Formats: sequence, structure tokens, C-alpha cells
Amino acid sequence: MNGQRLYEHARDTRIPGAVQLRSKLPEGHAPEQWPAYFRSAQGIEIVDYDGRSFQDWSAHGIGAALLGYRDPDVTAAVRRCVDDGSFSFLNPAEEVELADRLCAIHPWAECVRFTRSGGEIMAVGVRIARATTGRSKVAICGYHGWHDWYIAANLGDSDALSGLLMPGLDPKGVPRELRGTALPFAFDDRAAFDAIIAEHGDDLACVVMEPCRYVDPAPGFLEHVRDEAHRVGALLMLDEITIGFRRHFGGSHLRLGVEPDLATFAKSLGNGHPMAAVIGTRAAMDGAHESFISSTYWTERVGPVAALATLKKHEQVDLPGHVDRMGRRILEVWRRHIDALALPLTISSNYPCFATFGLPEHERAELMLLFVQEMLRRGFLAKPTVYVTLAHTEENLEAYDPAVGEVFALMADAIRRDDVKARLGGPVAMSGFKRLV
Ligand SMILES: Cc1ncc(COP(=O)(O)O)c(C=O)c1O
Repeated sequence: MNGQRLYEHARDTRIPGAVQLRSKLPEGHAPEQWPAYFRSAQGIEIVDYDGRSFQDWSAHGIGAALLGYRDPDVTAAVRRCVDDGSFSFLNPAEEVELADRLCAIHPWAECVRFTRSGGEIMAVGVRIARATTGRSKVAICGYHGWHDWYIAANLGDSDALSGLLMPGLDPKGVPRELRGTALPFAFDDRAAFDAIIAEHGDDLACVVMEPCRYVDPAPGFLEHVRDEAHRVGALLMLDEITIGFRRHFGGSHLRLGVEPDLATFAKSLGNGHPMAAVIGTRAAMDGAHESFISSTYWTERVGPVAALATLKKHEQVDLPGHVDRMGRRILEVWRRHIDALALPLTISSNYPCFATFGLPEHERAELMLLFVQEMLRRGFLAKPTVYVTLAHTEENLEAYDPAVGEVFALMADAIRRDDVKARLGGPVAMSGFKRLV
């Protein structure tokens, strides 16, 4: 059975929803063309189920392998751990070392709890905030995972479950009784945030948001959110799950100079090995003493070992400097080809570490598919947004640059001849869910 057949079997008969992470649905990239499964991965190289090799110039692990796939130092530490035994009836001492390490990196934090994934650590953080404050409501901004506390924001105003705030995040299965407990506001929207404080401040447990995503907050916005939250007795929890360590060692809140009450990390913390942490002040974490927060596999040892090795590596390399530099190099490559071909593409990234080009609205889906399809044929998993990692090097760029040149030329020709659709080898990608911000 080849990879496509295996995927169809999974999707059509065995695995409802087809995959375990929406972003890894082949239909979100190039239906019938994008490979679903991998056999091995290292650096930015992936060998798919059918044995074909690709360089990954897409969302590369959705931010979960900032050092590149199978980083040799992290892998060596994990191997030693597996050889010694990664699980027993006693706890891994490495979790204490990791807790100390995270508090040393974030001097404002005094206590830490761990899980193994992002959505899970957000649920724990919200549980702790609710337990500490004795309140129920949560103000949210951005994406924070799949759990009920968060998807409750998508429960409609009426009894129907279809009044979606975020198209694509269907709240089916989330108790309607949670309606009104997760209150969304948009990034940098002071008026919307202030309205939540005015109306729900008395029962607000915490405000949950990323310190930044693709843009920095307006000057003073994060400080305003924190001060207003504190004024009404709520906590501020900053979500560093995707942005953490990418732009600044320890997370962007350190770069922006805003100390929250709680902060969460996952994805890049274990560099491909499941690990997540919520750090906080002693006062904010107080609720964790009483609330029942407990799970068997939060006691395995690979996660903390991988995280310690990952943090050590981050201290040896200038990761934010590297991803910023390489991101700028990618933008230069795109710009050179775009200008030479007079292609109607725009360069739209604010942070080069998420290098992004934009496609013309009227044929966006078709041109995107043409780009993805033609890059696949040349051995690249490529999308208009690249999550740059330490493993993206100048040497890799030397292979990527001429491939992009060829594919952009083909796209320019298709636009000129008005035959983009005729060149497509499969259906266009389905659109993903829209973030609130
Ligand atoms: C900011 C943010 N928070 C939380 C999550 C959820 O993390 P996970 O997919 O590990 O559950 C994500 C995932 O994309 C994220 O970007």
C-alpha cells in the first residue's frame, strides 16, 4: 500500500478526522499530492512513506522543532534516557532540574507544572487560574488549543451551535452550559478588551493571550491588559507555545519587558519530544495545591530530558539571530525572483522568522496549489509561509533558491497565459480555520 492509499484508508474508514493535528491534513496543502506520512526526518530533510526525500520549507513541525528535526544533541540525550529507562513508579528527577532552570531563565516565576502538549498545558494553566481566583470566566485572544474551556468561545449566542466566532473550530461536543465563559477580544483592540473588563471583571479568572504572534503589540497594550486584569483581581497568562524561544531565549514577554502571572511553553520546549510547562508566581500558582491536576504520562522522563538538552543547545547557539537572518535571506530570494518576473506576489512578513509571501486574492487557492505542487515535484515541502529553524542553512538555501526561481517562472507564465487551472494536478486546498487575530 502506498502513502496515499494508506491515508485514504485512515481517512475513509479508520480515523475520524483523518489525522491528529488539523495542520497536518494533506487536504490543507495539496489534496492527493501532499504526502501524509513520513518514515524519517533529520534537520529539514523528510523521507515520506513512499521513500521520497523532501526538504521542508513549510511550517516545519508547526513550530515544534526549532532546532530542526532529530537534533543530534537532543537525540543523544533522549537515547541515553531511553536506554536507562524512561518510566518507572518513581518520578524523574530531571523535572525538578527543569523547573529550576525555567525559573532561572524567568526570574519573575517561582513555580512550575508540566504536561506533555500545548492544549493540555493551557487547560492546566486555566484550571490553576480559576482555582487561585475562585472565578470562572476567561478573556481570550488568539488560538490556545482544542479544550472545552477555549472552544466554548465558539458557542453561538443562540441555542444553535453554529454561531461560530472562528470558522472551522466547531464547538460540537462542547457543553452549551459553557457559553459565555470564554470571552474573545482581538489583538491590540483596547476597546474590546476594556468592554470585557467592564462587563465581566467581577468574575474574570484570567486573561489569556500570546505576547505577540506575527506583529508586536502596540506600545503599552500588554501593560494595559496586565494592569486592568490585576485591578479587577484577574491574572494574566501569556501563551508562549509557538512564539516562545523563536524571537528571544525564554520567550517574547522577556523581550517585550512584560511580566505576567503565568506563562506557558510547549512545542519547541522538547524539540519534537512532547513536553510542556506552565510557570508562574507563587501566588498565581497557589490554586495548583488544591485542584486535582494529575496524569500518568506527565511523569515520564523523555520530556524533561529533551527539554534540558534543548535549553542547553539554545544557550550554545543564537537561535533568534539565526532564524531572523535566514528568514531575511529567504525574503531576499523571493523578492529577487518576484522582481525579475514581475510576479504579482507580495512579501508580507513582519517577523522574518515566519517568512511569508502573499498571493493575489482572485486566484489565491489555485496559485498556491501550483506553487506547492511544483515545489513538491522538485523535492520540497513548500508553502507561502516558512517557519525558519536552526536547520535551515545557507547550503539548503542554495538548493531552494533555483527551485523557487523555476516555479515562480512557471507561475508567471501561467498567469500570462491565463491557464493556471489547467496546470493543476489535483483539487485546491481546503481553507483552514481562521484565527481570531
Ligand atoms: C499559541 C498556541 N497555543 C496553543 C497551541 C496548542 O498547542 P498543541 O497543538 O500542542 O495542543 C498552539 C498550537 O498551534 C498555539 O499556536
